[in-house]
Amino acid sequence: MKIDIITIFPEMLNKVFSFGILGKAIEKRIVDVKIHDLRDFTDDKHKKVDDRPFGGGPGMILKPEPLFKAIEYLKKQRETKKDQSYDSHVIFLTPQGKSYSQEIAEGLSKLNHIILICGRYEGIDQRVRDELVDEEISIGNYVLSGGEIPAMVLVDSVARLVPGVIGNEEFNKDESFSDPNNRTKLDYPQYTRPSEYKGLKIPEVLQSGNHSEINKWRKSKKTTFLT
Ligand SMILES: C[S@@+](CC[C@H](N)C(=O)[O-])C[C@H]1O[C@@H](n2cnc3c(N)ncnc32)[C@H](O)[C@@H]1O
Repeated sequence: MKIDIITIFPEMLNKVFSFGILGKAIEKRIVDVKIHDLRDFTDDKHKKVDDRPFGGGPGMILKPEPLFKAIEYLKKQRETKKDQSYDSHVIFLTPQGKSYSQEIAEGLSKLNHIILICGRYEGIDQRVRDELVDEEISIGNYVLSGGEIPAMVLVDSVARLVPGVIGNEEFNKDESFSDPNNRTKLDYPQYTRPSEYKGLKIPEVLQSGNHSEINKWRKSKKTTFLT
């Protein structure tokens, strides 16, 4: 899977994907994440990416030209790969998008190529959204200063679902929100060594060696997500 992120603050994202299982997956090229500076797609010497909103009002808007250029370039770059039909899926991260969920992450993890647009200031020119964006996603009902943190959330949650990233896909099945028949189910309590610490003991069943009993106990301890 290939993920391209368009941002005006590439430094914010450069390091964040180099840790843990995601870092390893990128190293092994199971997931290919690239960060692109929107200013590289400008033509003027000041590399201007924003301008005032038509009609007045506070703040600035990311201009259409660099975003059109960046998205068209990234789509073309993928299409030229030999013998592969790359369908690029363009996502704009915005509080006005649909609420992000594990189910959406699972759908996205099956795609070949995702392009993420990180907004800044008051957002991006509507014509980019109308013409080039396939999906708009919000990571929650609050307003952040930019789309970079939402992009980190989306890339991390999607990448761990790509086959080969976690190592054993079975691990994903028990995770919170991952039961397709009941998305409100959360993970069970976990314990590790020592079996007693400061007088605090772990549930006996976990040391019984009886896997059917352990599974029964774990199932009974799964809590439910309350909205
Ligand atoms: C200050 S916000 C703009 C908010 C916009 N004017 C509004 O009221 O909906 C700047 C950028 O941060 C990103 N952003 C902020 N909150 C977000 C959220 N909850 N989910 C996804 N992206 C968000 C978007 O890319 C947005 O364009």
